[in-house]
Amino acid sequence: MKVKVSRKAHFNAAHRLYRPDWSDDKNNTVFGKCNNPNFHGHNYELIVSVYGEIDQETGFVIDMKILKELIKSNIEDVLDHKNLNLEVAEFKNMNPTAENIAVVIWNKLRPHIDLSKDLEVVLYETSRNFVTYSG
Ligand code: NI
Repeated sequence: MKVKVSRKAHFNAAHRLYRPDWSDDKNNTVFGKCNNPNFHGHNYELIVSVYGEIDQETGFVIDMKILKELIKSNIEDVLDHKNLNLEVAEFKNMNPTAENIAVVIWNKLRPHIDLSKDLEVVLYETSRNFVTYSG
């Protein structure tokens, strides 16, 4: 029996969406308020899901204590209260859109989760806007 188990997490972070190789006009047209040169913040909500067989000994797909700790050490400690553009290496040359942040989160978690299990990341940038990446 395969089951999907999920854990919610949260972090606050600042970002700016822009391309230095574009004109101010084009950046404003494409990115709007998100191009504010002084950055702006979001309260990101994260749902990390692991899908796989239930272990017959433990009854777990993944031990939630382990998943909680993986999210804390690899995601929250790295992204929470950070300026994503300036403080997170992956975004030095990549726009920290919700799409790209979800991919970065997935890439950080994937090596820590058994390859027999599927990993899915859902990232809410606002309560109405969210993205999903599953590799
Ligand atoms: Ni934004």
